Amino acid sequence: MMRYVGAGYTFIASFAPLHSIAIPSRQQFRPTSAVGYPASAKKLHCYTQTHKLNQAALMVVARYHPPLFSIAPMMDWTDNHFRMLARLISKHAWLYTEMLAAETIVYQEHNLDRFLAFPPEQHPIVLQIGGNNLENIAKATQLANAYGYDEINLNCGCPSPRVVGHGCFGARLMLDPKFVGQAMSVISANTNVPVTVKCRIGVDDHDSYNELCDFIYKVSSTSPTKHFIIHSRKALLNGISPAENRTIPPLKYEYFYGLVRDFPDLMFTINGGINSVEEVNAALKKGAHGVMVGRAAYNNTWQLLRHVDSAVYGAPASDLTRRQVLEKYIEYGDSVLGTNGNNRPNVRDIVKPLMSFFHAEPRNAIWKRKVDSAFRHCTTVKQLFDETLGVIPDYVLDSPVAKVQPSRGDIFENVHDLIPPPYKSSEPELQYA
Ligand SMILES: Cc1cc2nc3c(=O)[nH]c(=O)nc-3n(C[C@H](O)[C@H](O)[C@H](O)COP(=O)(O)O)c2cc1C
Repeated sequence: MMRYVGAGYTFIASFAPLHSIAIPSRQQFRPTSAVGYPASAKKLHCYTQTHKLNQAALMVVARYHPPLFSIAPMMDWTDNHFRMLARLISKHAWLYTEMLAAETIVYQEHNLDRFLAFPPEQHPIVLQIGGNNLENIAKATQLANAYGYDEINLNCGCPSPRVVGHGCFGARLMLDPKFVGQAMSVISANTNVPVTVKCRIGVDDHDSYNELCDFIYKVSSTSPTKHFIIHSRKALLNGISPAENRTIPPLKYEYFYGLVRDFPDLMFTINGGINSVEEVNAALKKGAHGVMVGRAAYNNTWQLLRHVDSAVYGAPASDLTRRQVLEKYIEYGDSVLGTNGNNRPNVRDIVKPLMSFFHAEPRNAIWKRKVDSAFRHCTTVKQLFDETLGVIPDYVLDSPVAKVQPSRGDIFENVHDLIPPPYKSSEPELQYA
């Protein structure tokens, strides 16, 4: 067990035993009334007419509001260490785990702390899972319950060959909305927390606005999914790398705002290419229910996250200086060194999220060179910072204020003029009842 989790989770491990995993099938569902739903929720009503939801799931759906600001799930990046750093800077940002394959959770059943444990201060935190096998998705959800995540998200947007080769899930699932609806029903039936989908705006040649709407419609009308996080570019499944898949397909924010217009009963978080709190607030002002930021939050952690609590949530900003954030992070880092066995995490693992902590500040490059050579002999995080931090000017370390990032202008300008014509279901049976 990781040192910092201690007894923190034992009190929440009160969920159903594994043999009671629920995998709803069409045969099991009985018609039920839509009592408890807002009357206007036509798709949800349609769902309840054909599916029996447990009462807890109904309540969760009815009360749900998406986070205004979240940090995207990023494999190899949004690990426990980065999330710890992010939480020291922003108290209100929602954090996502890296994607975890359902199979990993199931096969590592006796080693779960390594994959699922997180310090309590990381709440609110979302577990993102990937998978294409309903039984494993159900069991993984049950196993994850004991850790107390605030929400479970299904990855339908990752084009990585690592994921695609892992039984073809991620973005490829957008081509199979029926399965996604089933998977979301299975996840919801096995947890009491909200369930959400993160997807692209299309895949390969299936990139029309209507096809995107069909996906959203089918998933939301066959499962309790009420909130979709939309990475607003399509995924290309063959031929380009995952990194290119995050830059080459163009962003189409107009598709995102089309969804907001055409599915008034659902909630949508915009993602892709948003780089500052100014842009976060611009997206919210245009009608997004939430904004998710990925690379900018990792590559510019201090400048971006520093403004989230005050500028997005209207809450008091923390008055911790960068030096104080570092001191707390160093304490955390040294307390977890080697706790996974095999000398992992090591100093390099802990320091990795800090490599852009002084982004755009004087002497940043010199500091990074010093850190690089200190990795060779430092055995604690404290030792590494004792040896290297002297090159960063005191005024950088001791100011609680982060520079406001230069504006790129209104990246959503004219977006409402570009929104495609309203959704027309391509299948007669998809029309609202
Ligand atoms: C290194 C890296 C790893 C990623 N891993 C995941 C992942 O595990 N799950 C996922 O849904 N998206 C993943 N993404 C995509 C991001 O969540 C996000 O959708 C994408 O980077 C676009 O947002 P941005 O322009 O704000 O970075 C990853 C992105 C990066 C850069």
